[in-house]
Amino acid sequence: MPNREFSKPTEAVRTVRQARVYHPEPVSADAVNELLQVARWTGSSRNTQPWHFIVIDDGEQLRRISELRTPINWVAGAPLGIALVLDGANPSSEGYDEGRVTERILIAANMLGLGGGVAFYGDEAQQAEGKRILGIPSEKLARSVVIIGRPVTIKDPRPNRSQPGRKPLSEIVSHNRMGVTR
Ligand SMILES: Cc1cc2nc3c(=O)[nH]c(=O)nc-3n(C[C@H](O)[C@H](O)[C@H](O)COP(=O)(O)O)c2cc1C
Repeated sequence: MPNREFSKPTEAVRTVRQARVYHPEPVSADAVNELLQVARWTGSSRNTQPWHFIVIDDGEQLRRISELRTPINWVAGAPLGIALVLDGANPSSEGYDEGRVTERILIAANMLGLGGGVAFYGDEAQQAEGKRILGIPSEKLARSVVIIGRPVTIKDPRPNRSQPGRKPLSEIVSHNRMGVTR
């Protein structure tokens, strides 16, 4: 991956993309610790901090997760995952907290010269299997792992990849009242 140089400070965040193909080298213990500190300091609803993080550096565990469903088969080739476990007491606010902490980990990984990607376990049965693999009690909300590593590319290698790029602002922004544009 080329060195990232930015003409605007916000570009460092705007250019964070999902990576699915990684070099095999391990993520350093220092980098893992920095990512966990960033995760720990993420804001959450009423500061409940309803999370637990499982650092997965065992290739066999990553392979098992990758087999939960085809769209996450790329997880098998990554050096590290951070599985998110939410308490399960308030699924609605915890879902929001889960999204916030995920995005912070991904941004922090990019700031460390690494990359990352989200992998969702899938439907209820696949979530139950993910919990079984990782030893997570069934009452917890656990449905994703944030994968970290040094990306080879940010191109999506999957045959059924989503459409890349983003909608223009003109399609997604209103002013003062929905539907009113300038
Ligand atoms: C809730 C959520 C679930 C996702 N699940 C998966 C997944 O299971 N497998 C995968 O390869 N990418 C997954 N992604 C990544 C999205 O496909 C990715 O964010 C989107 O295509 C935009 O990619 P880009 O930022 O590289 O353009 C998920 C993203 C989110 C926010």
